[in-house]
Amino acid sequence: MKVSVKKMKSIAFSLGAVVVLSAAQWSHAATAKEGEAAFMKNGCWQCHGTQGQGGIAGLKLAPNPKPLAYLNAFIRNTVGPMPPYSEKILSAEDLANIHAYLESIPAAPDPKTLPLLQVK
Ligand code: HEC
Repeated sequence: MKVSVKKMKSIAFSLGAVVVLSAAQWSHAATAKEGEAAFMKNGCWQCHGTQGQGGIAGLKLAPNPKPLAYLNAFIRNTVGPMPPYSEKILSAEDLANIHAYLESIPAAPDPKTLPLLQVK
């Protein structure tokens, strides 16, 4: 069978596209997971709780986190009780991953739906 160069180029391009697309999907799926790791590594959990639930020294961050732009503005510049994190310490990518992690945290169930909490 004779395969033309043009055909071979087209096959190679399609294979490349498949690899690039699956890599993109994979890295997208990994962001919340990487964000969780960055949240732990950078000590956010020590004040905000491992689920961003707050109540330790820091505010509640999840569920329904504020937009990434807000996090970016606050975290880089805060002069309050929370230490600021420059980009040298916490990269923009890690911050975006942390935001994805906070977004992935589900809301707590309605207490009325928990059998253990119902008075009989
Ligand atoms: C030493 C404790 C401490 C650590 C560590 C810490 N925070 Fe905070 N954080 C706070 C406190 C306290 C506040 C409230 C401060 C204020 O209002 O000035 C706060 C506020 C915030 C806010 C603003 C919340 C709002 O609703 O306005 C965000 C977002 C935030 N922290 C994210 C993070 C992230 C992400 C990390 C890790 C990279 C982190 N914090 C690490 C203590 C901490």
